[in-house]
Parts: sequence; structure tokens; C-alpha cells
Amino acid sequence: MTFSSNERRARSATVVGLGPMGAAIARAFIQAGVDTTVWNRTRSKADALAADGARVAADLGSAVGHADLVVTVLRDHQTTRRFLETVPADLRQGRTFVVLASSSPAEARQTQAWAEQNGLDLLQGAIMVPEPLIGTDNGLILYCGDEKLLDRWRPVLEIAAPRSPFLGLDPGLAALHDTAMVQVFFAAMTAFLHSSAMATAQGLTAKNFLPWAEEMLAILPATFEQLAHDVDGGAYSGAEDNLLMELSALEHIHTTSVETGVDPQLPALMRDLARRALDDGHGADSWSRIVEGLRSTV
Ligand SMILES: NC(=O)c1ccc[n+]([C@@H]2O[C@H](COP(=O)([O-])OP(=O)(O)OC[C@H]3O[C@@H](n4cnc5c(N)ncnc54)[C@H](OP(=O)(O)O)[C@@H]3O)[C@@H](O)[C@H]2O)c1
Repeated sequence: MTFSSNERRARSATVVGLGPMGAAIARAFIQAGVDTTVWNRTRSKADALAADGARVAADLGSAVGHADLVVTVLRDHQTTRRFLETVPADLRQGRTFVVLASSSPAEARQTQAWAEQNGLDLLQGAIMVPEPLIGTDNGLILYCGDEKLLDRWRPVLEIAAPRSPFLGLDPGLAALHDTAMVQVFFAAMTAFLHSSAMATAQGLTAKNFLPWAEEMLAILPATFEQLAHDVDGGAYSGAEDNLLMELSALEHIHTTSVETGVDPQLPALMRDLARRALDDGHGADSWSRIVEGLRSTV
């Protein structure tokens, strides 16, 4: 089968930045038959992809010139902006640059503003899965900013992540979801590690404790739903739980932490949030009341 030059360009992509994530995206493109050009500061990482079928560009300019879709998977937005600044003006026109580095929402908006001032069509994305899930049905990348650009390049971008929702016009939205989602992940992992440290100090193994931690995990979906309802409604009825009772549980976690020689900062943080709400007269409210204390802690 022969392709017209327009069809070929619609199935071409350049990937800039070949850390574990950029390399996984490039490999997914290649396996799906996308004509893929790669460039990386450290050339050996680009050469490693040549065996898979990637075209290794000699320099950044020719990497960008090979495709109308340029996906950047660099460490952060500062690095990404430095790269974009080096793209010659005549190569900026008519191309779509997709920025997939993690950032804060403010930094993502700064990158978008810079792109608009410098005549670049730029789409922001946040990769929400680890590298082994790229190119599988579970791949998830969140997009925001310019929906027309996403619609135009969906057939290629969905190869990396079949789940590629558009969140909205605000270019900080993908980064906002990214930071908020990843915090849920890190907070849960840290809580499990803290509890495991207390358990192992008392002769258990982390594996002994694991099924009991999973009992708590099973309660969380319904708990999150109720918390979201309370936060959005701004009402924290303590019909099923109350902060006075919960403070006592948190004091026990703190005491156990100290007794087992485990850093008590995490339970102290939760205990102090509850104490503050109690001091403000909210002892009969639910744990969701804590959001008000968090909002006022800057
Ligand atoms: N890995 C994951 O599972 C995962 C999951 C979700 C999101 N992400 C996000 O994806 C992005 C890429 O992550 P990664 O895991 O592939 O590895 P990374 O170590 O964050 O990024 C590696 C890439 O950035 C380049 N780079 C770093 N500093 C540079 C500089 N000063 N100038 C030019 N290039 C520079 C590296 O080039 P060299 O090879 O020359 O050093 C390499 O191409 C990050 O924003 C990360 O947060 C990654």
C-alpha cells in the first residue's frame, strides 16, 4: 500500500526526550506503525531505539522537521521550554508540540503563555501511568488546553494511551489533576510504610500486615464519595463519625509510633489537624471538617 505525503505526515511523530517514559512512547508508536523520529540529549538512548525501527535524528532541528507532531517527554517544564526556545521560527509553524513533562499548574500555564507569545501550537498532557502501561489498554494521559489539537492527533496519541480524556481549556488542568492524583498515591504509600514500620518493630512482617491494610483500602471508595459530597456541600455532619472519637484514635497511633521508635510526624500531622478543629468547636463534626483547616494552612 502506498500513502500520500499527507497521510504519511498524519502517521508520523517525533519524540524528544528518551528517558524511560519517552522511550516507551516512541516504542509504542513504532509498534503501531507510526513513522517515528527520535532525539535525545544523550545520543546513546536514541541509538538504542534504532534497532526497534526509530529514525535517529542528527540534531534537534531535523528531528522537529521530520514530523508535524512533536511529543516532548523531558524531565520538567523548564527543560522543555529551553528545548522549545531552540526550535527555529520556520519549524514552529504548522506543527503541534505536545508537552508531557510533569509540572505544577502554574508552570504549565506559564509554558502555554510562552508558546502563545512565540507562535507555537502546544497541547499539555500529564502521564498518569507508569512506563510499562504505555501502549496498553490501561494507558492514561490527561490533556488540556487546545482541544482541536488533541482531536487532530488523537489517532496517534491514543496509541500511547487509549485513555486520553480532554479536561478543559485551562492549560493548568492536566497538571492540577496530576499533582492531586499523585498526592493520593504518595499519601497512601507513606501511610502503609509508616504502619509497616510500627508492625515490623513489634515482630510482624509487612506481609503479615498487608491483608489488614487492604481491609482499610476496601472502605476507601465509599469514604471518598462521602468526603467529596461533604467538601462540595460545605457541610460536615458527624452522623456516622465525629472528630472527638477520631482524635482519640489518632492519639493512639501517635503513642504507638513513639513507643515503637517510628518517626511520629505523620500521625502528629493528622492529630494536630483534628485538635485544631476541636479547638474551633467542631468536635461533633465528621472528619471531612478537616478540609477547612487544610484550606487555612498556608
Ligand atoms: N517514568 C514514569 O513512569 C513516569 C510516569 C508518569 C510521568 N512521568 C513524567 O515523564 C517525564 C519523563 O520522565 P522519565 O521517567 O522518562 O525520565 P526523566 O529522568 O524525568 O526525564 C528524562 C529525559 O529528560 C532529559 N533531560 C533531563 N534534563 C535535561 C536537560 N537539562 N536538558 C535536556 N534534556 C534533559 C533526559 O535527557 P538525558 O537522557 O540526556 O539525560 C531524558 O531525555 C517526567 O516529567 C516524569 O515526571 C514519568
